Amino acid sequence: MRARAPADDTEPQVTQIDAPSAQDVRPAQNAQPTQNVQPDPADAAAPLPERDGARSAWERLPTVSPRAFRILTLVGLVFLGLIVVTGGLVRLTGSGLGCPTWPQCGDGSWVPRSQYATHGVVEFSNRMVTIAMSVIMLVTPVAALRLADRRERRDLVWLSFGLWAGFVAQVVLGGITVLTDLHPATVAAHFLLSMVLLLNGAVLYRRAGQGPGPVTVTVRRELLWLARLTVVASFAVLVLGTVVTGTGPHGGDATHARRFGFDIVNVAQLHADGAMLLTGLSVAWLFAVRLAKASREARRWADALAVTIVAQAALGFTQYFLGIPTGLVALHVAGATLMWIAALRLWLALPDRPAPRTRPKGLHLHLNP
Ligand code: HEM
Repeated sequence: MRARAPADDTEPQVTQIDAPSAQDVRPAQNAQPTQNVQPDPADAAAPLPERDGARSAWERLPTVSPRAFRILTLVGLVFLGLIVVTGGLVRLTGSGLGCPTWPQCGDGSWVPRSQYATHGVVEFSNRMVTIAMSVIMLVTPVAALRLADRRERRDLVWLSFGLWAGFVAQVVLGGITVLTDLHPATVAAHFLLSMVLLLNGAVLYRRAGQGPGPVTVTVRRELLWLARLTVVASFAVLVLGTVVTGTGPHGGDATHARRFGFDIVNVAQLHADGAMLLTGLSVAWLFAVRLAKASREARRWADALAVTIVAQAALGFTQYFLGIPTGLVALHVAGATLMWIAALRLWLALPDRPAPRTRPKGLHLHLNP
């Protein structure tokens, strides 16, 4: 029987045990005690296998401090939000071909030339944000595996790989969206997957600022359930929003004009009803966090949620009655992203974990701000 334990902490903690063969189980007839076995000098002289070379290169990578990792996750979260806004702008302004070449914008130019006008600027900005975000998505799992305390922080490693997997899925979905001539279902899925990635990024950022200990719920459990309900209701309103878009004129490519075929008034009504439910929930939150004496952070995010929901609702009605002008719709997309982040941050601000290890081991103080 052979057991292979991880040689170092950079490998996955998987112990691989092969089934014992008959030979392994049978006692060796001339078996000698093993403690006097001398290493074969030939082994020492033998060149290291290539895998060991790769491993030592990996070990030479610098370790990442919890603080640096947290900053990286914050930058990732900002870019995940930015890409939704710049991607939405490309769609709404029809700037998909704003730059005629890739990765440059026009032959020999790394900035959009004036002849490409606004479309060039919009498309080029989106490209730059996409490139920066791609680098962050690829670097984050590597940084998590190089964390100084990675043994205790499997959660951060998993969440970082979750971001990476979501990013790969977005690339694939982006390709499918083009292949289906911007079918509204794939355009909506592209947007909603971004929202899932934001969820992953927000949880990762939150956890990166906390210690590895168990979660402590600092408020009544009912409040935690209300937070979960708010996140689910917010996502439902986002889904309904994409249905309205996929039914209306901004759903995709104007030339192919593929739409869902629902009645626009009915779906917009349903979407606005969801927004009204959210408005009610946000007012409830303003009281709940204060009555429950929740943390200052939770109160701040409850305020942010109320502001973004009321602003979104006002913007939604205005754009609807003004015949959905592009500029207002772009603001509505940005507002939806901010509202989603506020709902997630409020939910994540309720349960807490001890802060990363600045205190002696074994002593767990929990300060309720
Ligand atoms: C919390 C409140 C709201 C949120 C979070 C929200 C979110 C969204 C989202 C995510 C979209 C899809 C954007 C896209 O796919 O590009 C959308 C579209 C839309 N929403 Fe809202 N919305 C809210 C309130 C409202 C209200 C009250 C109305 C009033 C009728 C409204 C009217 C619309 C319309 C007309 C569209 C389609 C715009 C287009 O043609 O692209 N929204 N909304």
